[in-house]
Amino acid sequence: MNQDEMKKLAAQAALEYLPDGGIIGIGTGSTVNHFIDALAPIKGRFEGAVSSSEASTERLKAIGIPVLDLNAVGDLEIYVDGADESNRHLQLIKGGGGALTREKIIAAASKRFVCIADETKLVDVLGTFPLPVEVIPMARSYVARELVKLGGAPVWRENFVTDNGNLILDVHNLEIMEPAHLETTINQIAGVVTVGLFAHRGADVLILGTPEGPKVIEP
Ligand code: A5P
Repeated sequence: MNQDEMKKLAAQAALEYLPDGGIIGIGTGSTVNHFIDALAPIKGRFEGAVSSSEASTERLKAIGIPVLDLNAVGDLEIYVDGADESNRHLQLIKGGGGALTREKIIAAASKRFVCIADETKLVDVLGTFPLPVEVIPMARSYVARELVKLGGAPVWRENFVTDNGNLILDVHNLEIMEPAHLETTINQIAGVVTVGLFAHRGADVLILGTPEGPKVIEP
């Protein structure tokens, strides 16, 4: 079974976690794309979705699911999204697709965060995947220097602008032993919009696609 098939398996398994109706929070990425495809046959059950990116919005609209403004709907029962890495405490690195800010907002506004991924995303220590940090454009160099002081090696994701008009620094060489502490520290750097560490608000359920079938991890 290849990685994409494992993603699809996790996406299918997430359907069981959906409420009978209401509004669903939807993340971004190739695993979520499988989830959106899986929603198509049952779309009539839901009033609509809140989406974390223009890309997911387009896909949702294409299958006929109305996309709603988070400001208009209040807290969500459930948010389904992928991850670039997860540890066993369900603390995550996200933002490989650059949608980390909206993802963090929707995760914060959701009662339950169901994370879907293939089994390669489960790690002992976060940080092999470069940590995305969204920054205000004028702060790019300053934030990069501050990240170097923290032991990281930031690389500007060139030719990429987020849906919010900002830039991304991908921070290499981190071995993240205390994810919540690092999340707080990076959040405090002036010019940082969002760090792609989801430690204070990690996932509530992790569904991993594996060749043996979906594996569910809860902290
Ligand atoms: C998007 O910004 C990310 O947070 C994605 O959730 C993450 O990169 C996972 O993507 P895949 O599902 O494509 O692996």
